[in-house]
Amino acid sequence: MVYKVLNNIALKNVNNNVISNIATDLLVIPVNKKVTSSYEFKELDKKSKGYLLKSSKDALNPGNQNHLVSSLEGIKAKKILLIQDLNEKDDIYLWLNKYKYIAKVANSMNCKSMAILDGQCYPKGKDQSWFLEMISRSIESGAYIFSTTKNKTAKTEKIGKQVVSSKVSLKNVSIITSKLSSTEIKKAKTAILRGFSVGEGVNTAKHLGDLPANHATPKLIEKIVKNTTKQYSGLKVKTLNEKDLAKLKMGSYLSVSKGSDEPPRMIIIEYKGGNKSEKPVALVGKGITFDTGGISIKPSSGMDEMKWDMCGAGTVFGVMCSLARIKANVNVVGIMACAENMPSARATKPGDVVTSMSGQTIEVLNTDAEGRLVLADALTYVGRYNPSYVIDMATLTGAVVIALGSHASGVMANDQFLADKIIESGEETGDRAWQLPLWNEYKSCTKTNFADLANIGGGREAGTIHAAAFLSKFAENYKWAHMDIAASAWSSSPKGGTGRPVSLICDLILNKKLK
Ligand code: BES
Ligand code: MN
Ligand code: ZN
Repeated sequence: MVYKVLNNIALKNVNNNVISNIATDLLVIPVNKKVTSSYEFKELDKKSKGYLLKSSKDALNPGNQNHLVSSLEGIKAKKILLIQDLNEKDDIYLWLNKYKYIAKVANSMNCKSMAILDGQCYPKGKDQSWFLEMISRSIESGAYIFSTTKNKTAKTEKIGKQVVSSKVSLKNVSIITSKLSSTEIKKAKTAILRGFSVGEGVNTAKHLGDLPANHATPKLIEKIVKNTTKQYSGLKVKTLNEKDLAKLKMGSYLSVSKGSDEPPRMIIIEYKGGNKSEKPVALVGKGITFDTGGISIKPSSGMDEMKWDMCGAGTVFGVMCSLARIKANVNVVGIMACAENMPSARATKPGDVVTSMSGQTIEVLNTDAEGRLVLADALTYVGRYNPSYVIDMATLTGAVVIALGSHASGVMANDQFLADKIIESGEETGDRAWQLPLWNEYKSCTKTNFADLANIGGGREAGTIHAAAFLSKFAENYKWAHMDIAASAWSSSPKGGTGRPVSLICDLILNKKLK
């Protein structure tokens, strides 16, 4: 089954038509001067005998951010939510948060349908297409609630002091625009479909991350990917099992899964929507389905969060699904490098030396630095596709949490153009990224007396960069960027996957910024 939250997000363009006739569980009106002076609002207000205009003034009061109006005679919408609109100078993240919040309100009120009026006020430098795409993506991702492993009957539950819905009620959303020409309608519909599809990719990534590790082992993820991609004719899946990986001499990758009873899987998804001659963009995701640390075992507090250590692979999966859904005119290959990192009598021990597919030997000084070990071989393997650019995404270091916090993913690259484009797409989507240097000085720390490379180096200094420096030794033959998403891919409070950086990567690929 394709992972689904909303059934549909549609455009409803009105031409002096009456909004009072729109049947919906919740009509959302962003309150600003443009809206309150519009024909559509005036028509509604007339029906309400001036009540809506009065209420909207309340909604504009800074201390009073929204106002809910229940059933008014002559207005078909069951409820009306007046929300204080943002200002064009407001940061993009505030816009994203607002529309995610609206989806949550609709779920908490048990609404099945919702209609949102285009506020016609957009962030500075952004146009209507950008705006509609953003609304559509934020509503789809905001409506997501994880319920796969929960009681099937409960409608609400208490988390701390908050009562929240435990199931998605929202099914259909329409976005109301007014007086668009037929070309504008076409453009608006494309933007909405794109936003919806990317939102679905975001949710696919969130869902895979949120699944408990015993529900998402490498083998189970393989099953999920195969079942999902069956529904998209554009996607081709190939998976490599333990034997295949051994044949490819991926000693680095296999050293991670060695201690686990769960066999590893490398899942390769191909999407060919572009010219045959066009080189593919390659995406590589760290897919550690659970990271105990191995013999260098982690402390038990908060270890449950290591079920999200496969969010890089989840991002790859989410992006591939979105591209296929949009029927994007690009060639992309995605690799999900899945394995479980466990301690056992068979596990790799600190000091063990393994040989990677590239031929370089690696001394595993810390079995908790396992992400770079699976990525090393996945990066070597992806070279076979002769990619135009390679981007790996990995929840790689705790150090990036300290360096950047959760607002930005970390970017390091051997190609400045690629790093610039990643940062640009982050700004465009509000799924932001920030660069750290990857100078040669940092690359000396991977030296050891017993192998070509050690999997840790640099002590307490610049852990995020030293991890990237290690990866760079396996990415010398192509243009490459590494994204450390350890802080951005999930949130610890409230706990849940964020689906980042699916939006950023989709923007990067869809807008062909890599040509
Ligand atoms: N998956 C972790 C990184 C991580 C830690 C993500 C905390 C989110 C929160 C990774 O495999 C890891 O354990 N990295 C080590 C590397 C160290 C041993 C050089 C780390 O960051 O402590
Ligand atoms: Mn680890
Ligand atoms: Zn890890």
